[in-house]
Amino acid sequence: MSTSASFGANAVIVVFGASGDLAKKKTFPALFGLYREGQLPSTVKIIGYARSKIEDADFKKRISDNFKLRDEEKDKPKIEEFLKLCSYHQGAYDTAEGYEELEKIIGEHEKKVGTESPERLFYLALPPSVFTEVAKNLKKYVYAENGTTRIIVEKPFGHDLDSSRELQKDLAPLFTEEELYRIDHYLGKEMVKNLLVLRFGNELLSGTWNKNHIKSIQISFKEAFGTEGRGGYFDSIGIVRDVMQNHLLQVLTLLTMERPVSFDPEAIRDEKVKVLKAFSPLNTDDILIGQYTKSEDGKKPGYLDDETVKGDSKCVTYAALGLGINNERWEGVPIVMRAGKALDESKVEIRIQFKPVAKGMFEEIQRNELVIRVQPNEAIYMKINSKIPGISTETSLTDLDLTYKSRYSKDFWIPEAYEALIRDCFLGNHSNFVRDDELDVSWKLFTPLLNFIESDKAPVPEGYAYGSKGPKGLRAFLNKHGYVFADEGTYQWPLTTPNVKGKM
Ligand code: BG6
Repeated sequence: MSTSASFGANAVIVVFGASGDLAKKKTFPALFGLYREGQLPSTVKIIGYARSKIEDADFKKRISDNFKLRDEEKDKPKIEEFLKLCSYHQGAYDTAEGYEELEKIIGEHEKKVGTESPERLFYLALPPSVFTEVAKNLKKYVYAENGTTRIIVEKPFGHDLDSSRELQKDLAPLFTEEELYRIDHYLGKEMVKNLLVLRFGNELLSGTWNKNHIKSIQISFKEAFGTEGRGGYFDSIGIVRDVMQNHLLQVLTLLTMERPVSFDPEAIRDEKVKVLKAFSPLNTDDILIGQYTKSEDGKKPGYLDDETVKGDSKCVTYAALGLGINNERWEGVPIVMRAGKALDESKVEIRIQFKPVAKGMFEEIQRNELVIRVQPNEAIYMKINSKIPGISTETSLTDLDLTYKSRYSKDFWIPEAYEALIRDCFLGNHSNFVRDDELDVSWKLFTPLLNFIESDKAPVPEGYAYGSKGPKGLRAFLNKHGYVFADEGTYQWPLTTPNVKGKM
């Protein structure tokens, strides 16, 4: 049976790990968001499954704490309606009983609504330790034998290449690739979903998107908070595994892949895999790593102050990596991926800096730069040179600005990443999920670097104060990779007054 058709009114959604943090903060609020917007059938059945004993009412209270309303008056009644579709089922992950009861509940519901071809979506919001076990039992006891099963799985998909392959080896006999939806929530972000349209739908960008015009590419992820409360978890993960091997690499493949023949999910994923295979091995000499220390005023803790972290931990909380792609389009274009916790702001953006124009007629002129701000406050702006209005003979760097908040009305519903992805899965669209071969190549690329960073040969991460811009060497690192700061750092976006920089 094809799994690419949309699920319908009689679909059943089961969230495993329903009492956990992810389910509470992301999965259920996303399901509610979809219901609120009329994107989930009003007859869908949603079951939370977990080991903890929780009364149904407590469960509903717990999940609804994080529901978001867009229109207080209109949306409030929808909470009650939605909660009526939900129920909680307590069960173990390692014994048959809970799954058999779950099968009974689902079966009875399907019988009642008269489904001939069951549609079951299982969302595994689970820690890696129970993941395979649940997958096996799910296949054995609650798989939709005469219908369609879809499974959403959450990272981490392994810890390195070997463990990822091991996990894949466990899952492959149970579920087909068509049934599996590996979530990387960055692929559900509005701006990331826009990348293919921006790149391939605009000749201006499509025609210049190569080594002949682009000087450098940068993807930057900044968080203004540390690992507070998650130190124990983070210590064996580090920033590279946490957001770079997955989220930022996904963004980078969309930025650098060749034009797919269509928007068909496999056409897109084929191109992503192809470009990933063209990346040069990561150069362990071309990295900048750091770990945050106390804030300058001493109010915010350093990473090592976290009691759940080993006192001498060399865990990397900041990394900047130099990357390169060996193909005709990108040969020689420096790419920097950088990510850090406990910095001066929270921001994720992409910077494409173009080559300088031939000077000739100009004494001085700045470079074009396209900035795609993924979050917060989605925006796309292009730094361009323009004559200062009036009698001036000077140029200034200004911008073409598409800030979503000012361009689109507030009534526009931009789904949260998890809303977008659960909806895609419901519709049977795999475009924004990670395919098995893609995962394999991404681990192949990152595992040697991770092994190096975690070995005795790695340099000690440079300390940077909580709330600062990161390790001191960053600016020089970016310069080394072809990035030039506009106006020697004085350019601000958005611009209010022209700042003179350039002469005709
Ligand atoms: C998660 C990481 O995958 O992504 C977190 O584990 C990180 O450490 C988060 O904070 C960032 O996601 P977002 O959507 O808040 O940018």
